[in-house]
Amino acid sequence: MKIGIDKIGFYTPHIYVDMNNLAVARNVEPEKFTIGIGQSKMAIAPITQDSVTLAANAALEIITDEDREKIDYVIFGSESGIDHSKSGAVYVHQLLGLKANARAVEVKQACYGATAGIQMAKGHIALNPESKVLVLGTDIARYGLNTGGESTQGAGAVAMIISANPSIMELENHNVYLTNDIMDFWRPIYSDTAFVDGKFSNEQYILFFNKVWESYKEKSGLTLADMEAICYHLPYTKMGLKALRTVLEETSEEVRTRLLENYELSTTYNRNVGNIYTGSLYLSLLSLLEQKEDLQDGARIGLYSYGSGAVGEFFTGVLQPNYRDHLKIDAHKQLFNMRKEVSVAEYEEIFEETLPKDGANIELNISKDPATICLAGVMDGKRQYVNKLS
Ligand code: HMG
Repeated sequence: MKIGIDKIGFYTPHIYVDMNNLAVARNVEPEKFTIGIGQSKMAIAPITQDSVTLAANAALEIITDEDREKIDYVIFGSESGIDHSKSGAVYVHQLLGLKANARAVEVKQACYGATAGIQMAKGHIALNPESKVLVLGTDIARYGLNTGGESTQGAGAVAMIISANPSIMELENHNVYLTNDIMDFWRPIYSDTAFVDGKFSNEQYILFFNKVWESYKEKSGLTLADMEAICYHLPYTKMGLKALRTVLEETSEEVRTRLLENYELSTTYNRNVGNIYTGSLYLSLLSLLEQKEDLQDGARIGLYSYGSGAVGEFFTGVLQPNYRDHLKIDAHKQLFNMRKEVSVAEYEEIFEETLPKDGANIELNISKDPATICLAGVMDGKRQYVNKLS
């Protein structure tokens, strides 16, 4: 039985800052951000968006009533969850009007959470072929104003339905995964911004890639020539390129050119959104599928997932017949076109506007946020979500 990605939805907030302007404000050459880091625009989450609303808005794009009947498992991959106890999945389950007979859990391992969710979903579908699983990768990446990681922030979510006989991509089974306890990036419970050892994190990302790729080749008997493209977890778009370059010598000029060209297309969305942590790899996949018009059915795509701390995984998927008919290309074009640029000063103000930490109530103005699902405030320690359509 084929199991894989049946649908993919995406959401990113309606405001962004231009990386050229951020560079000027931070006294660095714009090319450092636009070429050296490889980012053009950075999505900013207004206070009315959190990991729950981003995920729910992404899922809203793909969910039909038939899905509502079949989804019996919601897996919320995130490292910017809103509660230490209750999962974001339970809120999303309610906001989407899913059936009560469902499991709903949150999965955490830095940017690897959604990949873990997909693998759990595959197991569930193998046992329950009639079911569907909603897997969410949703995050707001925050390092802090004027920090080394600031240019690699972002906000957004990817929602995927995993099912039998998927419409978009069958997930193959030669997965290779690796865990090692390292401190390259972490976020202690008391902090709402990440701590990072930037250079070390880059090195570990590449080291993990090299290790899982070597084992993958042994396990599967496949090589770079069998991959139409490789999509990477993209904390910033230069990162995957650095990893890809370490293996290109293994293959022919023709395959090298193909992989490099397809890599560029797989970074278009990420370049304009920034790091969305758990969703970044799947945003890169979406970018490739939607930007490369002549990508053929049957093509095999490699996927490299990395979550600091760290867990890495390499796996592959094969595109299904007429997969393009199941993408939301126009909706995503519109989502990007409708965004508004904010100045660096406005971005700083939005960044510093946070929810009360002392349990005080707050009512938020959701009229400026065009998202369908918004955070409208906090009452008695409970987040108040609004679906403007219901
Ligand atoms: P930095 O010190 O600001 O930048 O840190 P740099 O000095 O290393 O420069 C960056 C690149 O810009 C270099 O290119 C420069 O040469 C180039 P490279 O040599 O690396 O190819 N450059 C220029 N290029 C053109 N014109 C110029 C120019 N000037 C310089 N004028 C760093 C960069 C990414 C370390 C920092 O932003 C950071 O700490 N970010 C956060 C950590 C991160 O993203 N790590 C990635 C791997 S870990 C990961 O992916 C997991 C993660 O997503 C978290 C999770 O799992 O939850 C982060």
